[in-house]
Amino acid sequence: MTDKFDLVVVGSGLFGSVIAEQASRDGARVAVIEARDHIGGNCYTYDDAETKINIHKYGSHIFHTDNKKVWDYISQFTKFNNYRHVSKIRHQGEVYPIPVNLETINKFFRVNLSPSEAKSFVEAKKIKNDNPKNFEEQAVSIMGLELYKAFFYGYTVKQWGVDPKELPASVAKRLPLHTSYNTNYYPNNDTYQGIPVDGYTPIFEKMLDHPNISVFLNTTWESVKNTFSQDQLLVYTGPIDRYYNYCHGELNWRTLDFEHRVEHVEDYQGVAIINHPDQDVPYTREIEHKHFLPDRKLNIGKTVVSREFSRSATKKDTPYYPVKTTRDIEIYEQYRLMADQEQNVIIGGRLGEYMYYDMHQVIGAALSCYKLKISVKLQK
Ligand code: FDA
Repeated sequence: MTDKFDLVVVGSGLFGSVIAEQASRDGARVAVIEARDHIGGNCYTYDDAETKINIHKYGSHIFHTDNKKVWDYISQFTKFNNYRHVSKIRHQGEVYPIPVNLETINKFFRVNLSPSEAKSFVEAKKIKNDNPKNFEEQAVSIMGLELYKAFFYGYTVKQWGVDPKELPASVAKRLPLHTSYNTNYYPNNDTYQGIPVDGYTPIFEKMLDHPNISVFLNTTWESVKNTFSQDQLLVYTGPIDRYYNYCHGELNWRTLDFEHRVEHVEDYQGVAIINHPDQDVPYTREIEHKHFLPDRKLNIGKTVVSREFSRSATKKDTPYYPVKTTRDIEIYEQYRLMADQEQNVIIGGRLGEYMYYDMHQVIGAALSCYKLKISVKLQK
């Protein structure tokens, strides 16, 4: 492999694929090394053989952004439908809108308030705190104890495996609460939203379909790195602690286990995602995939439903969410210092930066990383 490539990209998720696509357009020869048996990273989707329903294998992915540059970029590779995310939450057998809105408040408290009445009502419930020290203190200062306990406490315990008092206040800082019937899931109701009409995987197939790009599936970086020279230009999008052989210790991640099953009904829950905050329910969410692409009109009396179970990740698991305890942040800083010293290695993406990134943020970060750090090196 050694002399054939101007650039080696480890990982075929969004970060790696955007870099590979940009570099190949500029004439660079690119190797994409991917540990899994498919491209696309966690955005990977496939059509279920039995039902033809498009499945989001690693959890539901809804594209949303306000960034026109990112939207124009990704739209070169796919059309999007006009999916607008409306989320629900099931608490003690009843389904409510989430984020909390006027309907949630009225239904939960068995009242019938107008928006201005609801505003005063919630105001009186808030446990005011000018300096909240943790997730719980922040959340109850936004919505009061009852709504927090019903909709956020159990979900947070299941999702993060810790008491919300142990999580930083910043995690809850932007919990939205509407005293109108607003159902917008994304805080600024992003201008551009949708689901790719053929799922996400064809986006990656188009990005990587270039004569300058060679993709090596089922191949870890660790198994091939000795075949490259020390000064090989490299973009690494795997876990940063793994790249440095855990020399400063392991970073904590949460992972998800999925239980995918076919239900023999036309419509199982009437919406793509329902959150489950109750602690006697072991999973955090149920996803009904057919609602992402309703235009497919698959009236077959079947639907595919996935349950998500959250737990701590070991080295062998797929990492999903960075836990970011104080200790993790200290460890990450040590790896980041090492990465900053590298001349020909760029470590990026959600695993490389130990960061929860949405897709549009990863695309934006990869486009500017290519422009500022990689294209100049390729020109030398
Ligand atoms: P990603 O993890 O996708 O890709 C990294 C790739 O590198 C993987 O394919 C991995 O196999 C490979 N790799 C790692 N180490 C390697 C090694 N040593 N050797 C070889 N290959 C290696 N965003 C959004 O905008 N809307 C949404 O609705 C959601 N939903 C969502 C749900 C869930 C459950 C999660 C966890 C995340 C989301 N996201 C999201 C975020 C989205 O998944 C994320 O922004 C991108 O997938 C990140 O792309 P990356 O390329 O950084 O990582």
